[in-house]
Amino acid sequence: MEPEVIQRFLESVGQKADVDLYLKLFRAQRKESFAIIVADAQIVRAALDPFHFDLRILAGLGLSPVVLVGLLDARDADRQSQRILEWLLEDEVPARTIGSGPDLPAAIRESVRETLQQNTIPIVSLDAAKELDIEDRFRLLHSLATGLETRKVVFLSTSSGLEREGAPSISLVNLSNDYERLMTTGHLSRRHASLLRHVKTLLDQVPQRMSVAVVNPLQLLRELFTVNGAGTMIRRGSRIETHDGLTRVDRERLQGLLQSAFGRALVAGAMNPGGLIECDAERIYLEEGYLGAALVGRKPVAPYLSKFAVEREAQGEGIGGEIWSLLTRDYPTFFWRTQPSNPICSWYAKQCDGLARFPEWHVFWRGLPPEKIQPAIEYCLTAPRAFEEG
Ligand SMILES: CC(C)(COP(=O)(O)OP(=O)(O)OC[C@H]1O[C@@H](n2cnc3c(N)ncnc32)[C@H](O)[C@@H]1OP(=O)(O)O)[C@@H](O)C(=O)NCCC(=O)NCCS
Repeated sequence: MEPEVIQRFLESVGQKADVDLYLKLFRAQRKESFAIIVADAQIVRAALDPFHFDLRILAGLGLSPVVLVGLLDARDADRQSQRILEWLLEDEVPARTIGSGPDLPAAIRESVRETLQQNTIPIVSLDAAKELDIEDRFRLLHSLATGLETRKVVFLSTSSGLEREGAPSISLVNLSNDYERLMTTGHLSRRHASLLRHVKTLLDQVPQRMSVAVVNPLQLLRELFTVNGAGTMIRRGSRIETHDGLTRVDRERLQGLLQSAFGRALVAGAMNPGGLIECDAERIYLEEGYLGAALVGRKPVAPYLSKFAVEREAQGEGIGGEIWSLLTRDYPTFFWRTQPSNPICSWYAKQCDGLARFPEWHVFWRGLPPEKIQPAIEYCLTAPRAFEEG
């Protein structure tokens, strides 16, 4: 498919900036880690047309997912895998079918990896595992996802996502906050409750950061390439700690996180006791594995968000959003600045009550009374830089 046609189609799915952001994130990952798309025979029978279109677009963008057929119900998986293959080959999309055997041995997992390396879509059929129960087939998915370090598993569904009786589908499940409630009083259908239970086990067990989406094939590209998504996104959720000052924080790890997020070195001495970072960090929100942080300084004008950072590899997976919601819960008033070229500016513009644009810095605030806006701007325009110019 022509690249311009693909780009135009994606822009019709979401805003260009969103699409570009996700394309960049996906392309920065290892090829084989992009995604596993789980499709059962029922979906292939009912929706092969839109699903095949999704795969054509993804292949045209240079993104090859693994297609896993028969995880929830493995009957007829070989035949449906063959149909997917024929449709793809007819459109000259490179693909091949791979049988799982009853236990997806290492040789087969290796062959999936090699297929992805050749920009070819592996369609893995679980037909030979049809005698296993669902728990055991999920174990096969676990070993595949662990071996490939998969970042996203997508469950294609005839519904638009996880649904509660008589309510619209759920857009986001943060397992650490929402799981118990959804399983006890969430009114999920039996099928969706069972899926959520298996997904939780999967996400608890894989070592890498991974998220899961449940989505209708008609909405798959919207889910992958837009900020708001389209189906249900399920995340393990992060544990965010708060600290008053740096006393109990590992400075070296914090430095590593900041430098990885911003892609630049801190200026000499910034991390020393009494240095720039400490003076701007009376309160710290820190993801327990040092994957993300927000640093807030107490300034005469108002609290100042001096750093907001997520480890490069973990960006775009929701950690920043989780930190942000704690920050805004605790601080009704604060201000911050960012460089005009930073792609996050458009998101900040949606989060702030007001902003002022200057050539060197964009200044944002929430909850500031009018008389404090000018002093906040002056603070931002004169505060020293913490990073080396890059
Ligand atoms: C900015 C940053 C902290 C966001 O953290 P993150 O974990 O990647 O963000 P999330 O995945 O939680 O996304 C949070 C929101 O930001 C948006 N977003 C994230 N990265 C974005 C980007 N590059 N461009 C536009 N929007 C972006 C997401 O779409 C999401 O919006 P939503 O809540 O409406 O869905 C992180 O990308 C980062 O460390 N960037 C480099 C350092 C930096 O520039 N820090 C800010 C300078 S002040």
